Amino acid sequence: MNELRAHYEANGQGHVFADFETLPEAAQRTLLEHAAAIDLAEIAALHRELVVGDGARADATAAGLEPADFIPLPRSGGTGYPGLWQEATRCGEEALRAGRVAAFTVAGGQGTRLGFDGPKGSYGVTPVLGKSLFQVFAEKILAASRLYGRPISWYLLTSVLNHDETVAFFERHGYFGLDPERVHFFNQGFMPAVDAEGRILMSDIGKIALSPDGHGGSLRALVRSGSVRRMEAEGIDTISYFQVDNPLVRCLDPAFIGFHLMNDSELSSKMVPKAYPEEKVGVFCQRDGKPLVVEYSDLPDALMRETDAQGQLRFRAGSIAIHVFARGFVDRLGGGGDAAARLPFHLAHKKVPFLDEAGVLRNPDSPNGYKFEMFVFDALPFAKNPVIVETERRDDFSPVKNAEGLDSPRTCRDDQLRQFARWTQAAGVPLDTDETGLPPFAFEVSPLFADTEERFITAWERLAHRPIPTGGLVLV
Ligand code: UTP
Repeated sequence: MNELRAHYEANGQGHVFADFETLPEAAQRTLLEHAAAIDLAEIAALHRELVVGDGARADATAAGLEPADFIPLPRSGGTGYPGLWQEATRCGEEALRAGRVAAFTVAGGQGTRLGFDGPKGSYGVTPVLGKSLFQVFAEKILAASRLYGRPISWYLLTSVLNHDETVAFFERHGYFGLDPERVHFFNQGFMPAVDAEGRILMSDIGKIALSPDGHGGSLRALVRSGSVRRMEAEGIDTISYFQVDNPLVRCLDPAFIGFHLMNDSELSSKMVPKAYPEEKVGVFCQRDGKPLVVEYSDLPDALMRETDAQGQLRFRAGSIAIHVFARGFVDRLGGGGDAAARLPFHLAHKKVPFLDEAGVLRNPDSPNGYKFEMFVFDALPFAKNPVIVETERRDDFSPVKNAEGLDSPRTCRDDQLRQFARWTQAAGVPLDTDETGLPPFAFEVSPLFADTEERFITAWERLAHRPIPTGGLVLV
């Protein structure tokens, strides 16, 4: 304890322990644990580089950027593509039947924009029943386990701020029918927030203002937590990665998994064409033949708007944070086995409630703190044979990010309804929709009934064409 305190004092962070003696024993233990886990030299270096040196902007250089290559959807890919997609689907299905694939959800974020009090995955999103994001994924995973005849393991990344609540939520809901032995939660790392001078902010008396180290922290957390070893023991070599905020995602998409495996890829990514130039998604680019994701804020205006001979955006490959990782790659990158392959930290300037020097808790109304985060897509340049595969936005992506407006519960609910309506119409049921595809009433389809259009048609036929009543029809 004394040594740790002296180390903090020597590094200009002695205030972290200012109230130590007044704390109850449990709070003292927590403070010591958190303080011991922080690498002060790393924090000082990041502050120097990113806050003082404004290094984040130096990343933004556009020199040599080209659009990334991707595998187009069958309809836009021309001859040969439908066959290729079928082959990929078969390959992915085989891997799923062989039990080689795990689902992996990153759920360690703070979800500040949504402003929901609780782990984001426990937020209710479906149009009628208001099922939580976690339940939607659980049902998709359960449906896939039944379809492929293998229980599929689910790994979930949590953070020190939401771990216990997340586990309790699953327990309260009986793991949504999944085998608890196959659901693995593990904590990601954290970083302290600092002020403009690099001083660690305190969120309360004797409490360091911690935040999770970004979704890029998932890779080292997979290794540190022993999850990668557990996967190895379970015979899993392929990790299907998705975010907690996107209920449309196909958690275990055989075609995507198949493309990954057929190309012997270490990291595969899904892309959608950007809806408009300013859309706030990262863009897949390449430099010197290596793919990378350039954040929307870093893509120069001229490139953002540039069009090709067909009038399409040249830099249109939007990243939607859906990936497949090879387990060995995670092991190498997350375990630090490849010294050159370290994910960089990025800077976020945020409002961080803090204890001021007089010991008063302040809720700032403008950004006062700096947080350091790693991004998972920064792993891309380190991966062998990376593959980028096009997908239909309407079948894979409608995140809940904001409380209102774009990417909000409202837009996500409508996108789910449009999907259910499309499936219903494809099954030959007469259903009127407005010009955006929205049906006139709310209904929902459980992934346990069907989780793709194809499976909906089959399941519907089995139901012997029962008519849809106008009201909250729920297919379970
Ligand atoms: P976002 O970038 O949307 O961040 O995360 P967020 O923390 O959820 O929300 P805001 O920005 O505070 O509003 C995208 C995905 O990455 C996960 C999130 O849980 C979400 O699934 N994530 C993010 C982590 O798992 N850990 C992190 O440290 C950050």
